[in-house]
Amino acid sequence: MTVSVSSQLPLDLADDDTLFVLDGRMVRFPEGLRTGDFTHTIHRFPGKFVPQVARELIRLACIEPGSGVLCDPFCGSGTTLVEAATIGIESVGLDFDPLGVLISKVKTTPLSMEELVSLDEHWRWAVPRHGPTPLAPDVPKLSHWFLPEHVSQLSAIKARCLQLPERLRDFSLVVFSSIIRRVSNADDQTQKTYVSGTLPKRPPEPRQLFPIVMARAIAGMSEYSVACRAQPRVRRADAREKIGEPVHGVVTSPPYLDSIDYVYNQMLEYFWLHEELGMAQPSEIRTLRSLPMGFSRGMLRQIIDEIGGISANLVDALSSDLSAIEATSRKEAEHVAGYFRDYATHLRAFVSFMPAGARYTLAIGESVVRGRRIATPDLLVPLFEASGFRLVGRCAYEIRRHYMKFPRRSNSGMIRFDHILCFEKA
Ligand SMILES: C[S@@+](CC[C@H](N)C(=O)[O-])C[C@H]1O[C@@H](n2cnc3c(N)ncnc32)[C@H](O)[C@@H]1O
Repeated sequence: MTVSVSSQLPLDLADDDTLFVLDGRMVRFPEGLRTGDFTHTIHRFPGKFVPQVARELIRLACIEPGSGVLCDPFCGSGTTLVEAATIGIESVGLDFDPLGVLISKVKTTPLSMEELVSLDEHWRWAVPRHGPTPLAPDVPKLSHWFLPEHVSQLSAIKARCLQLPERLRDFSLVVFSSIIRRVSNADDQTQKTYVSGTLPKRPPEPRQLFPIVMARAIAGMSEYSVACRAQPRVRRADAREKIGEPVHGVVTSPPYLDSIDYVYNQMLEYFWLHEELGMAQPSEIRTLRSLPMGFSRGMLRQIIDEIGGISANLVDALSSDLSAIEATSRKEAEHVAGYFRDYATHLRAFVSFMPAGARYTLAIGESVVRGRRIATPDLLVPLFEASGFRLVGRCAYEIRRHYMKFPRRSNSGMIRFDHILCFEKA
């Protein structure tokens, strides 16, 4: 099943098919774009922006070098921040996923020529084929996920990462993390981390893959380090809490309503890096899974009342969807309502830090929950309006490079369109 474009948008293509024009139409984003510039491809990330989309959203946010701070409150792996840095715009990124924060920090922290040379020298080293595995994660059934020789090679690479000074160590750990899924027995593409019984994988050897990926990452970082004109700041934070500093524009792709389970998706990376990501035991990873928007459930009626206190229009627009979903799953209905309640909390936490006229530009898709299409982009409009913003304009684009192309839950669809919404603080 595919998700259709919202009924509010005519399906005709805009004449200019390269830029987002906020005229309510759908544009076809060009194919074959170079998406690998700078540090953009150092690490995969579910739901990652196409860099050109992030750049377009920055343009729509009307923020320029020297005109203030741009914030991405759901920065994920930092695509918006890399783009802002190369344009020369001061920026700050927030995310509560510690792996996303580490990736974003590494991708946006320029390294000096001396650092890059010493990194290159450090990694002119042959990864031993076999050896002790003191750094192997202490998780049940590790051999289900990794071949024994891959555990020993990964262990050796991690040990060598840890010999480096902090900035180079973090950079190397992110590159290390970027190969983990590929060298594991788990399927590379799917959202769920699982070992397919029907399509057995022959993973590449870490000792062969790592040097290639490291060389590419160093090249990307040297390109970024030259181009970076304003180093972003990245912090681990919940976007539902007050940002606490002035923000002159927001550009983001918030989590989808039937949100990707970011932690489960990156479970193997967390196995290997849990300590560096602030968790003493791999089992602590589970605590991260209870954080996403909408997850902190409450009683459905209570959540609806809370939303009603913000926007009666949204409650009206949502009510038939919620009733239909509640008929099969109360939990799912609570999750859907909780998502909008949490989004309202996020907007409340940000709006007072934005000057009048500051823009909030986002890319978001629709979702299908229990067979019911939820027009998240349309539903966000009354929520923003009730939170002190006015809609400047919107459009949608077809996702041609299917960054989001992984099956969601069996009762959900594949996202094929993203909607661009541009608001302005009233
Ligand atoms: C669609 S992804 C963003 C991807 C990003 N644009 C990129 O290019 O990598 C959404 C992000 O929102 C984060 N997130 C979800 N709820 C959050 C919250 N309450 N506070 C901060 N981050 C949150 C998730 O961890 C995830 O990284």
